[in-house]
Amino acid sequence: MREKLIVALDVKSFDEAKRIVDILYPHVKIFKVGSKLFTSCGPEIIKAIHKKGGEVFLDLKFHDIPNTVSGSVESAAQLGVFMLTVHTLGGSLMLKEAAESAMRSARKFNTRKVKIVGVTVLTSMDNKDLRGVGISRDLKKEVISLAKLAKKQGLDGIVASAAEAKHIRKVTGKNFIIITPGIRPSGAAKDDQKRIVTPKDAIRNGASYIVVGRPIIEAKNPRAATIGILKEIEDAKKK
Ligand code: C5P
Repeated sequence: MREKLIVALDVKSFDEAKRIVDILYPHVKIFKVGSKLFTSCGPEIIKAIHKKGGEVFLDLKFHDIPNTVSGSVESAAQLGVFMLTVHTLGGSLMLKEAAESAMRSARKFNTRKVKIVGVTVLTSMDNKDLRGVGISRDLKKEVISLAKLAKKQGLDGIVASAAEAKHIRKVTGKNFIIITPGIRPSGAAKDDQKRIVTPKDAIRNGASYIVVGRPIIEAKNPRAATIGILKEIEDAKKK
C-alpha cells in the first residue's frame, strides 16, 4: 500500500522538506518535489531523498517547445528521478519528444527509464475555469481526450482527478499509470482543490498512485495522518 501513496513536499526549504522525509520514511516511499521546493533548493533535495532510500516524483510540469522539454527530461533522468510530469497541452510533438528522450537518456546514462506522466487538467480547475481559458469542451471529455493523446504519444501515464479515473482507466487500459491529486481524507479541508476525492474512492476508481500534500504535511502529526491514509488505501483494496 505504501507504494501507492506519494507525498507532495510542498514546502519552501531543504530543511523543512528533509524533516518531513525523515518523519515519513519508510511509511512513505515516494516523495513529490514540485516547483516551490525545487526552485528554492534544486537537485540537493533529490539527492537527500535518494540517500534516505526514497524515490522522487519530479513534478515540474514541463510545458515548452519539444527540443527544450527533451533536454529537461534528459537532465531529470540524469538526476535519477523515478517519474516526472509534462503538460499534455504542450501537444503531440512535445509529448513524443519527452517519451523518446526518456528512452534515449536511459541508454545514455545506463539507468532505468524515467516514467513520464502528463498533466491533463489541474484538479484546482472546474468547467468554468476551463471556459475562462477558452476551452468549451466539457471537463471530463477534455481529460479523456488528453489522456488518449498522452498514451498515443508514448507516455507512461497521466495526472488527473480521481473523479475521472474510472473513465480514463476504461480508455487507456490496465497498465497505464493514473496519478490522482486532489485527495482529501473524509473531513479534511478542501483548500484550493475543486475536484476532491477520498483516498479510498480514488483507489477504487482505478488510481495507480494518490498524491497527498497539505492533509499530511500540515497535519499536527504527519506520521499519524499518513498511517490513517494508508489504512484507507488498504480498506479500498479489501472490498
Ligand atoms: O496539498 P494538496 O494535497 O492539494 O497537493 C496536491 C499536489 O498535487 C500539489 O503539489 C499540486 O501541485 C499537485 N497537482 C494537483 N493537480 C494536478 C497536478 C498536480 O493538485 N492536476
